[in-house]
Order: sequence, then structure tokens, then C-alpha cells
Amino acid sequence: MEKQKISGNTEGIRASVLAEMEKWFDLETDPGKYLPEELATAMAAYTLELRREIAVFLSRQGDVLDVRVGEIGHVSSAPGKIRRPARGLNRVRLIHTHPNGNSALSEPDLSTLRAFAFDSVCALGIGPEGRITGITAAFPDFDAHGPAGARLFSCGRLRDVPSEDWMEEISVSERLAARVVPQEEGPERVILVGTDNETSLDELEALAESAGAVTVGRFFQKRPQQDRAFCVGRGKVEEIALAVQNLEAETVVFDDELTGRQMRNLEEALGVKVLDRTMLILDIFAQRARTNEGKLQVTAAQLKYRSTHLTGQGLLLSRLGGGIGTRGPGETKLEIDRRRIREQLNEIDRRLETLKKERSLRRRNRERTSIPTVALVGYTNVGKSTLMNRLAGADVLVRDMLFATLDAVSRRVDMKDGTAFVLVDTVGFINKLPHDLVEAFRSTLEEAADADLLVIVSDASDRELSSHRATVDRVLHDLGADSQPRIEVLNKCDLNPEAEGMLPGALCVSAAENVGLDALLQEVSKNLREKEHRYTVCIPYARYALAGTVRQSGRVLSQEDGEEGTAFVLAMTPEEAGILSARLNLKLTETD
Ligand code: GTP
Repeated sequence: MEKQKISGNTEGIRASVLAEMEKWFDLETDPGKYLPEELATAMAAYTLELRREIAVFLSRQGDVLDVRVGEIGHVSSAPGKIRRPARGLNRVRLIHTHPNGNSALSEPDLSTLRAFAFDSVCALGIGPEGRITGITAAFPDFDAHGPAGARLFSCGRLRDVPSEDWMEEISVSERLAARVVPQEEGPERVILVGTDNETSLDELEALAESAGAVTVGRFFQKRPQQDRAFCVGRGKVEEIALAVQNLEAETVVFDDELTGRQMRNLEEALGVKVLDRTMLILDIFAQRARTNEGKLQVTAAQLKYRSTHLTGQGLLLSRLGGGIGTRGPGETKLEIDRRRIREQLNEIDRRLETLKKERSLRRRNRERTSIPTVALVGYTNVGKSTLMNRLAGADVLVRDMLFATLDAVSRRVDMKDGTAFVLVDTVGFINKLPHDLVEAFRSTLEEAADADLLVIVSDASDRELSSHRATVDRVLHDLGADSQPRIEVLNKCDLNPEAEGMLPGALCVSAAENVGLDALLQEVSKNLREKEHRYTVCIPYARYALAGTVRQSGRVLSQEDGEEGTAFVLAMTPEEAGILSARLNLKLTETD
């Protein structure tokens, strides 16, 4: 077994002193004793020598699990291996010294008791000669809803500790904890940390909200380079650790992508689950994917991401359901090794391949009926789904949340002037959309890339309009979708009376208030028709069944019965005319 080491602030302590303290791990203490005397005496002596707090984590069996030097309010209060259980107590008591001689428990001591559900937190006041001047023990109280304060007891000297009574207090706490009614948890409390810019952090906050969490604190540290071990500086980590306790945060989300090592170090230092932006987005995607294909794609992206971050993967789970970052493939699957992940990914790939074939079959059918596709694209939350609902009467999920639409949704629109098209709503784009996700959603986004016309929607009330619009261009470029004709739309004009002119050539509309939508449809129709030519075709009466195929194309401008058959005048693009001609096995003649 690896030799256990003293943790915390050990800087400047002689190796021989540390080696002596490491012997505490081998102490055989009486499990029935609340405060083993030999341990308490040694802690007092070393506190005097080092002039620092010393904390010992003692299991119910009497084993020393960890020894830590430094104030528990300032460094993380529990080593990484000590976790808050989903229910009940964590079966560990924290015994620590106060070098100032005062054994009163501080607010950070008590919040540590609550945050980790310790059996008990005990403070020993150590006087100037290394004598124990007082002992205070706190035992957690619970009401039906959860932790509710603590019961405090004190005594003056080591030999006065009422060991049996205090051990009984642990049983009392255990009984109280068992009576807590598991209930709907409130939103997960998260702290955000950014190193890039504040705007990106604002977006992270919106993302966290979309994932169902509430942001209770934000930290920002501009750095030329990420710290390799912790992403941010050590001082910042301590500040965050303190905030985690004071704000009772359950999760810390970093705006930057973290390495597996950084994640592990941060979880150990902060004592709570740590996620990065990619994991947060993946989590939202896991919640929102609706089609089989979407769900499989998210699962694949999550598995890929986790397999590269296997060393530090959000295993500090205080929530019953696991919370953010744990939805999707499920916790048991998280713990499997890379080989199993590969097997799963292969299986997913196979299923995705089948679904992809089905999708392209559907698309080909659409092509055969030669109805053009119009894709609504834009930054997340600009109102694409609302527009879709207005334009196509489709019942698409509309919510003031990022990524309400994940999978492409399509509806046929038939205009009064005879123009028919398929309108496709796509997943909202976002800054720093993780690469794996762009890949995962490529087939969904391909709907946009393949569209005959793009309607690019922006939000007139968005303060970051131009940067968001630039992101959309970048994503479209990455998808190879920069050659189609486009219509620029500024939505939510009701929120900004000065929207006109914000984006050159844009149509100002309000999907919510039904303003400007007719003009938008006219513009779509005009654009689709720009590429169209006029063709005539005569369907002989003997082959009249083919007339149905012609009408289905949705492009009939007029029809007239003649001597040999019915002559149709059609408006369509040369490609569409080619497809129809092949299906009818008849020649289409271009007219003026
Ligand atoms: P993603 O699915 O995340 O890409 O979002 P989306 O672009 O599809 O946006 P969605 O239609 O879900 O709308 C986002 C929010 O904006 C909702 O709360 C809508 O009610 C609101 N919204 C949409 N259009 C308008 C509008 O014209 N005016 C105002 N005031 N609000 C609007």
C-alpha cells in the first residue's frame, strides 16, 4: 500500500517532523473512545511546535484516515477521499486544534460539519505551553428537511471528555439524519470560475441556468496562461474553497476546458464536484436531446470526453441524482475503463450509421418531390423556434433557455402564392461550442448546410449581437455552409425600437408579436423563385396518373387541357426540372 502522507500546508516543516506525524496513521485507537488520548496529546505537542492548526480525520472504526496541517477554513476542509454521502452521516469525525488556546468552534468549522455531514467536528484549544485548555465538540442536528444546526458540548481537560456520552451523541445524529425525508432537491448551487472574459462567464451563467442550476458565486482571474495543476492560481483556489463552504455550493464550473489532472486536483482542493464548460454543455444536451439520433450523439460525445478525462471525473456526488455533469450515460458507465467505452462507442456508431441512412432516405424522398429546404439558423435563444411556430404552425418547444431545440425539426410550409418549402429549425449555435459536439451534431447541422436558403436569425435585444453573429458565420463556415443565399433577420424588434440598421439589410421582425412575418415569407418566396425558370410539360391523357406527380412537386403555375393531354406550366430550378423529367420520363421545355 502507498505510504500515507501529511496533507495541507506542510511548507517549511522538517522531514523528520513529518515522518513522526506520519506514524499517527498506524495508531491503533479504541473505536469506543471519542477522543483517543495518545492522539490528542501528540496533536497538542505538534501544534505548539509548528504553530499551525492540525486536523485529523478519524473513522468510526478508530482509523486515522488523514492528517492535515493548516486552517480548515482556508484550505479545503476535507481531503478528496472524504465525501459527503447522499444520505446520513459520513462516518468520520474531524478533530482539530486551535493554536490560539480558544476551543470555541468557528463558523467555518460548523459549515464544514454541515457540508460534509461529519459525525462530529471537535476543536482542541492549545495554550502557550502546548497544554489542552479546552475541548468543544459539535454534533449535527437534522430536521425533516435536512441539516439544521448542531448540538455543542465542551469540557476543560482531556480526562474530562465524556467519551460514552459523546459517542452516543453520534448515534443521536445518525437517528435524526435517518428521519430526513428525501425530497425534491432545490436547484443545484454552483460557483463559476472564468479566466477568459466576463462576457464568456455571463454566458456560462446562462448555460448553468439552462442546466437547471443556480449560480451562487462567480470568480474571475485573468491569466496569460492556465496554471497546469489548478487552471487558476493557488490563492484563487483557496478563495474559491472558502466560498464553496460559505455559500454551500455543490459544484464549481470552470469556463475553460480542464485536463483530467486539473479536475482531480481541483476536486481534491475544493471538496466538491468540478466541471468544465464542455461537460456543462454536454449535460444540457443530454437533458434536451429528443430524437434517438440526438440522444445517441450526446452519449457518444459524453463518452468520448470522459474517456480523455478519466482521471478526474466529477465523482464527488452529494446530490441524490448526481446533478449536473452526471446525466446521460449514467454513473456506473462512468466507472468503466477505456476499453468498455470504446466498445460502447462502436455500438453507438453502428446504430447511428443506420439512423443516418434512414435520414438520408428521407432527405432523398424530399428531393424527389423537389421541395426546397429553408433552414433557420442562429445563436441560441434568438427565437428560432418561436419563428418556426409562427411560420409553420409547428409545435416546436419554445423556452427561454439555451438549446431548447437540439435536434433539427422540420415542417412543410405552403404559401398562398404556390411556393412550398420545408422549414428546418436547427440547434442554436454558441461560442466555444466544444469541438466534439460540433462533430456529434454534424449530421443534424448538415440539414442547415444542405438547405437551399438560410434564414439567419439574430436577437435585436442582444448586447453581444455582433460577436454572436460572427460566431454563427464561423460555425456555418466550418460546416461548409457559406455558399447558399441568405436572408438576414433581426428578431425581437419589439424589445428594441432602434433595431433598424443594426444589421445591414436585415428584416426587422417580432415573432412574439407577429410583426414583419409576412414580409419575411415574401422574401423567402422571392429568394426561392430567383433561381427558378419556367417549364412546360404535357402529360398525355393515356398517362394521366403522372399528373399527380407533377402537382406534388408543388410548382404548378397553370394547367390547360389540350387535344393530346394536359399542359402544365411549372416554376422550378434547372436541377429540380432535371429530377422531375427523369421521374416522368418526359421532356420539360423551358419557356419565358
Ligand atoms: P435555441 O433552441 O436555444 O436555439 O433557442 P431559439 O433560438 O429556438 O429561441 P426560442 O424560440 O426558444 O426563444 C427564446 C426566448 O425568446 C423565448 O422566451 C421566446 O418567448 C422569446 N422570444 C422569441 N421571439 C421573440 C420576440 O419576437 N420578442 C420577444 N420579446 N421575445 C421573443
